[in-house]
Formats: sequence, C-alpha cells, structure tokens
Amino acid sequence: MKKLILDLDTGIDDSMALAYAVASSDLELIGVTGTYGNVYTKVGAQNALNVLQVLGHQDIPVYCGAEHSLAENSFIRHEVSARIHGENGIGGVDLPVAARGIEEKDAVDFLISSITKYREELVIVATGPLTNLALALQRAPLLKEIIGPVVIMGGALTVPGNVSPYAEANISKDPQAAKFLFESGLDITMVGLDVTQRSQLTKGDTQTWREVQTMSGRVFADMVDYYIAQHPHSNGTASYLHDPSAVICAVHPEWFTRLPMHMTVVTEGEASGRTIGDPEKQRMPHPNVKVCVLVDSEKVERHFVETLAALFRKAI
Ligand code: BDR
Ligand code: CA
Repeated sequence: MKKLILDLDTGIDDSMALAYAVASSDLELIGVTGTYGNVYTKVGAQNALNVLQVLGHQDIPVYCGAEHSLAENSFIRHEVSARIHGENGIGGVDLPVAARGIEEKDAVDFLISSITKYREELVIVATGPLTNLALALQRAPLLKEIIGPVVIMGGALTVPGNVSPYAEANISKDPQAAKFLFESGLDITMVGLDVTQRSQLTKGDTQTWREVQTMSGRVFADMVDYYIAQHPHSNGTASYLHDPSAVICAVHPEWFTRLPMHMTVVTEGEASGRTIGDPEKQRMPHPNVKVCVLVDSEKVERHFVETLAALFRKAI
C-alpha cells in the first residue's frame, strides 16, 4: 500500500479526490495539506476535515499551508471559483462541523517531515496551486534527492487552458511554483486538462450515489449535482473529472498514456501559466515529467463511480 499526502484547495472535485483516496485499498492517506485556490486556505482545510468526518475518516490530520502564491503577498478568491464550487466551496452543502480541529503544525513542515520519513514510499498528489510543495523544496533543497513520485492535477499541453487560451487554473494561480517544480528534476506526472476533460461524471452517476441512501452518498450527490450545473459545455448534464483523475492516475497509471518530457511554465505575459516543453532541454536525456495525453475514460469513470458508491455504503 502506498502512503499518500493530498495537497488540496478543497473545492468540490478536491472533495471527490479525497473520497477516492480514502476509499482506495491501494492508498494509505497519512495527511491532507491545505492550500488556497478554489477557496481560502483555512476554509479549504475545514472543508477537508468536514468531508473526512462524513466519510468516517476523522483519524486523518489536516494542515494549513500557503495562503498565496510565491510571487504575491495575498490572494483574493476569484468570483468564478465561488460560482463553480459554491460560496462555501462545496456546492452550498451543509456538512456537520468536524469534531477534530486543523493541526497546529504547518503544512509545509508536515510535507518536509513526511518526505524525510517515508522517502520514495510516499506519493504526493497535488490538486491545487503548487505553492506548498515548492516551499517545502525551497526550504529543504536536499529533499530533491529522496522525494518519491509527485502527481499533479494541472496544466494543459495539447488543449487550450480553462482560465485563458493558454493556462489551466491551478498552474495559473502560481506559475512560478509550477516552473520551479517542473525544472527541479522531480518525478512528476502531469494530469492536466488533456485527460481530465476526457472523463466525465453525469447526473446518472450522482443518482447511483444518492440511491445508496446514506448521508455521505446524499451529500456527495448534492455537491456534484451543483458542480455539474456549473458546466455549461454539457448543458448542465455532466462535469469534468479533474482532481479525482490525478489520484486515480497515482494508482492506475496504466489507464493513462504518458508522454515523457522536460517541461517548463511561462511565467509572464498573456501566456502566463502555459505548461510547455522546455526549449532549453530538448536534446537532454531522461525527461522527468510524464504528461498524460490520453486516458481510458470509460474505465476511469466506472471505477470512480463504483469506488465512491462502495465507500458511501460503508460510511454514515
Ligand atoms: C482545477 O481548478 C480547480 O477549480 C479544480 O479544483 C481543479 O483542481 C481544474 O482546472
Ligand atoms: Ca483543486
């Protein structure tokens, strides 16, 4: 079983990634590190705790990390985030407040101590801006020698961005952090819009969860129905499967076609946030980033819906 840390800006699809992580028999989630993005850092961390409690996993610690990008001193939540994820970040669903509190230890310190302890045995999946991970490696550069695989939901190589013609939302919120990580030589798998927009969730899927007739099944169905309604591409009938795809890829890389590349990120101008092959490393061997370009979406979608349904059956 792989040890896992999830770095989340909990959000609706982050909540789904969290549910998949606790449901998977291949993963042992040892902690959640919170970041800003869909919501402010503290709100996201509290959402993660509340979601964990409803899923019967209040044993998992949640830490607060960065509140803004490397290049800025503050972060103002974007209006579009409040629309897509709801004012409270989880589609307006009212979850009981978790009995467990947010940990006092800082998320970046937790990342550093966990990487030091578990080394290559630990997988880190990040589904928000990459600031926490960049800060950990900047504070403790020797971690580069021992850190295991990193899987990110972010970026777009073969398709346009979702916040500009070039940029995907997570990368665009901290392009400097993403550039630093891509160029650091770490073993990174990029699960970007190229694949996350190929897999979808429908109202039929949320109905499957609702029919489990538990509180967890109902709140997830409500949350995701809200999210689906915000996806105009489908006339409000289906949503993309962004963040869960990254956790699924950590467990089932064989369902994804991955292109090895040296990657970088544009940090200025209208293409800021664009994830692209590093022109300076074109002739260099051993590319460190595996960019997912294709996915067996039928397998991913079925596996995801069934895994969550089984979890909701066991939870309250
Ligand atoms: C990413 O942006 C956020 O809104 C989602 O949670 C996901 O991580 C998709 O571009
Ligand atoms: Ca996210």
